[in-house]
Amino acid sequence: MNSLKHVAIIMDGNGRWATKQNKDRTVGHHYGSENVREIALEALDLGVEVVTLYAFSTENWKRPQKEIDYLMKLPAIFFKKFLKELNEKGIRIRTIGDLSKIPEKTRKVMENAVEETKNNTKLILNFALNYGSRDEIVRATNSLIQQGLTSVTEEDFNNALDTRDLPDVDLLIRTGGDKRLSNYLLWQLAYAELVFVDMEWPRFGREDFNKCIEDFNQRQRRFGGLV
Ligand code: IPE
Ligand code: IPE
Ligand code: MG
Repeated sequence: MNSLKHVAIIMDGNGRWATKQNKDRTVGHHYGSENVREIALEALDLGVEVVTLYAFSTENWKRPQKEIDYLMKLPAIFFKKFLKELNEKGIRIRTIGDLSKIPEKTRKVMENAVEETKNNTKLILNFALNYGSRDEIVRATNSLIQQGLTSVTEEDFNNALDTRDLPDVDLLIRTGGDKRLSNYLLWQLAYAELVFVDMEWPRFGREDFNKCIEDFNQRQRRFGGLV
């Protein structure tokens, strides 16, 4: 078995799932967000330390305003329903991404969830919101420049990223059938195992998650060395 501390997920396919059923794309986002609870609870049972979920990318602002508005309302709906339970189970909420550019209401909801759960230690549920890896790298670089550094080590750079205190990603799962990274965690995925699943995110259940982990456990991770 490979050590599995950090799972990153690209929760893709919500819109296509809804469209297939003649429903509005936002219906897909609704069921997709309910599925976050399922997968978080499964990760908790499995003893994973961190799950980082791609919730909204820096490129997703290109979508119709109506869809963006719904996606920005979803955290409030999600946490109203599930924060108490997640908190009681010892799950700590965190965020990565540039939250300064999301609507204030959404930001407050996220900040509140982070604050309420800050002492929890069982699982970090990390939401990537207005997250883009290139944006993160540029922000990190600017913060290093502001600190007056003229040359940096990998460690300095790692410490300037939004993920600074998190372990490297071990396993990336992308649902929805596409095989690309879409500007997600480019630095942090350097040695991650990649698993692409055809199923759309709202259909991706606990058993499917376990199958991805089984797949991960079959991989021989060499990190450039020999075994
Ligand atoms: C992923 O599902 C969720 C977000 C990007 C917010 P999509 O909305 O991208 O669904 P598809 O890929 O269009 O089916
Ligand atoms: C990636 O999905 C972003 C999220 C899941 C939030 P997209 O649907 O935005 O990715 P592309 O556009 O198909 O690459
Ligand atoms: Mg998509």
